Amino acid sequence: MASTIFSTSSSLPTAVKGLDCNTYKPTLGNFPSSSSPAPKPLFPVVRATSDGPVKTGLSDAECEAAVAAGNVPEAPPVPPTPLAPAGTPVVPSLPLSRRPRRTRRSPALRAAFQETSISPANFVYPLFIHEGEEDTPIGAMPGCYRFGWRHGLLEEVAKARDVGVNSIVLFPKVPDALKTPTGDEAYNEYGLVPRTIRMLKDKFPGIVIYTDVALDPYSSDGHDGIVREDGVIMNDETVHQLCKQAVAQARAGADVVSPSDMMDGRVGAIRDALDGAGFQQVLIMSYTAKYASSFYGPFREALDSNPRFGDKKTYQMNPANYREALVEVHEDESEGADILLVKPGLPYLDIIRQIRDNSPLPIAAYQVSGEYSMIKAGGILKMIDEEKVMMESLLCLRRAGADIILTYFALQAARCLCGEKR
Ligand code: PBG
Repeated sequence: MASTIFSTSSSLPTAVKGLDCNTYKPTLGNFPSSSSPAPKPLFPVVRATSDGPVKTGLSDAECEAAVAAGNVPEAPPVPPTPLAPAGTPVVPSLPLSRRPRRTRRSPALRAAFQETSISPANFVYPLFIHEGEEDTPIGAMPGCYRFGWRHGLLEEVAKARDVGVNSIVLFPKVPDALKTPTGDEAYNEYGLVPRTIRMLKDKFPGIVIYTDVALDPYSSDGHDGIVREDGVIMNDETVHQLCKQAVAQARAGADVVSPSDMMDGRVGAIRDALDGAGFQQVLIMSYTAKYASSFYGPFREALDSNPRFGDKKTYQMNPANYREALVEVHEDESEGADILLVKPGLPYLDIIRQIRDNSPLPIAAYQVSGEYSMIKAGGILKMIDEEKVMMESLLCLRRAGADIILTYFALQAARCLCGEKR
């Protein structure tokens, strides 16, 4: 069961018993060999299986005196050396000064020396919302839905909070009729996202709400920025829109605004806009190293936000590039980002580790839709153990250096960590 691997406190009676067996020292006999006939033993024989403590009625001093006189209480026998199967070669032991398997011998030892841990507090749960009242299943992401913003969404958030997931990030499916080339619906204070934030904050005041800052759900072109007639994504004009979007989200009560657009200079501009509007306390989680990845496919289906033409390669990073991530890190740090995000997650562990080693800022990893769908599909086809692969993938993101993880598995994984079965 995954919880024994990932939780820090679990009772391990068998392991402890096993260890005791191996730390027993041979004991002397019960009586001085000279005396005859044998006196009545002072100490009853102690068995590991006897119920409750054995009382002799002796004082501490009498017990000590008895042992000093050679009348040593008996303990369970030293266990026999376990047998190897017939045919096992008999070899001299290797002269090893270090045997790394020692710290892996039992569940208790493994738990004691586990370097990385994971908790529901590390998860941010991405949630798709729409204007309707039904929860619409997302075909390419089994188990994920577009939630009605004041119906299914509230239930889902309540479920997540029940198992310790208090952070969510919202992704809206915007009606086509509201999409324009300049994505102005993105900063409508009565739009789907600001309305939903106010609803959630009213119902769950302690929740942490992250928002996505980018134009793609609002753009009739499906791009993260404004598209010029020659197909160029306009940088500075887009940043202007993103600042308005971030302020509208902050005004509604967003705790963390997360620019995922990859325009240059947007972190500094958004910081200025937030501060200018009195939102100094709102964090910026910058998508620092967001790659032009094919792992986003299911997400774009969920939001119906595929680019109408072309791809996102003129603003998202080339998956072949490693050093370039540091260029983005330096920009985001100097512009005032609070959290640096790497996306996708598992195929980009080297990028997470590089940033962890080069910046003191908190790091977020986004386990994106394609990663989620692959694990789900493998599980449904019974090719892998879905729950174990899910937990391992999340743990590996933490090991690489991520503090928080945006994952569609947040609820399922948190339930698993809480020892609940689905
Ligand atoms: C858009 C955005 C995307 C994702 C998060 N924000 C898609 C994209 O860049 O095309 C992808 C998330 C996922 O695949 O789970 N700004």
